[in-house]
Amino acid sequence: MTSGGDAPGMNAAVRAVVRSALHAGHKVVGIRRGLTGLLAEDMYRMDIGSVADIIYRGGTVLLTGRTDEFKTPEGQRKAVEAIRRNSIDGLVIIGGDGSIIAGQVLKSHGVAVNAIPATIDNDIPCSDVSVGFDTALNTICSAVDKIRDTAEALERTFIVEVMGRKTGFLALASGLAVGATAILVPEYPVDYSYVCSRLKRSISRKKKHSIIILAEGVGSAEFVAGQITSRMGADIRVITLGHVQRGGTPTATDRILASRLGAKATELLLAGQSGKFIGQMKGQITVTDFAEVLSCGKCLDREEYELANVLAI
Ligand code: F6P
Repeated sequence: MTSGGDAPGMNAAVRAVVRSALHAGHKVVGIRRGLTGLLAEDMYRMDIGSVADIIYRGGTVLLTGRTDEFKTPEGQRKAVEAIRRNSIDGLVIIGGDGSIIAGQVLKSHGVAVNAIPATIDNDIPCSDVSVGFDTALNTICSAVDKIRDTAEALERTFIVEVMGRKTGFLALASGLAVGATAILVPEYPVDYSYVCSRLKRSISRKKKHSIIILAEGVGSAEFVAGQITSRMGADIRVITLGHVQRGGTPTATDRILASRLGAKATELLLAGQSGKFIGQMKGQITVTDFAEVLSCGKCLDREEYELANVLAI
């Protein structure tokens, strides 16, 4: 089952789960539309061919969804009954933090379930990376590279708003990758005088265009632009990259990550290990209990933030 917002590489993870389970001699069903489909018992048998030619495709062939019904005790009971009625002995959930929460709930009802992180936000603890993050990062880079051409030609400042929900992981990584003059993230207070001083410094060394990366969690890009123009006379344009960041062909890095995590989640489930979150830290696959993942937060790397600022003087 894929759940929550789609992320590039989800299909590669689905393929890994299906093929490794089939390889081990098990039957596989796919649940459509995430928890919505689970509650509606919208499932279908998956064979080897059902996941052919999907490793390179963005989105998710299983479709995905978000539902409030699962948040209620009745919804949760209904989901457990759906799993039992359809003789599902083990479930792999591919998604964001809502998927881990759902996994923990299902586990508490005796369902065997493991989960892997798939979200462009990269905001799930106990894994350095989540499936989809690298692709989104590359999408942002290529968009900003294009924006930079026009920014340079007209000597303008662009505020590029990127996704990330309440976190700045995507903004920080993309800001570092594109050499942004300033990176604004929800984790740290926005200091407009500092932002303006950085812009003025660029101008003083004859660089009259600038890129500011703004995480959506900070607030309205128009408001940020207004704050800057009220402090200094800058010609600012605002761009919200939006869902473009979530689509597209997954990078090789995401395909490999998804394949490794999907296969490991299945392997553990088949070995009787449930309630496990499979992530990757320092390049190694890691296995963490859902409870631990849900009890810790993920912090932005302050050193990386400082580095981005130093390098974009
Ligand atoms: O969690 C992934 C994400 O793309 C966030 O970055 C964003 O805030 C949210 O989903 C957007 O959700 P929706 O696609 O429902 O508008």
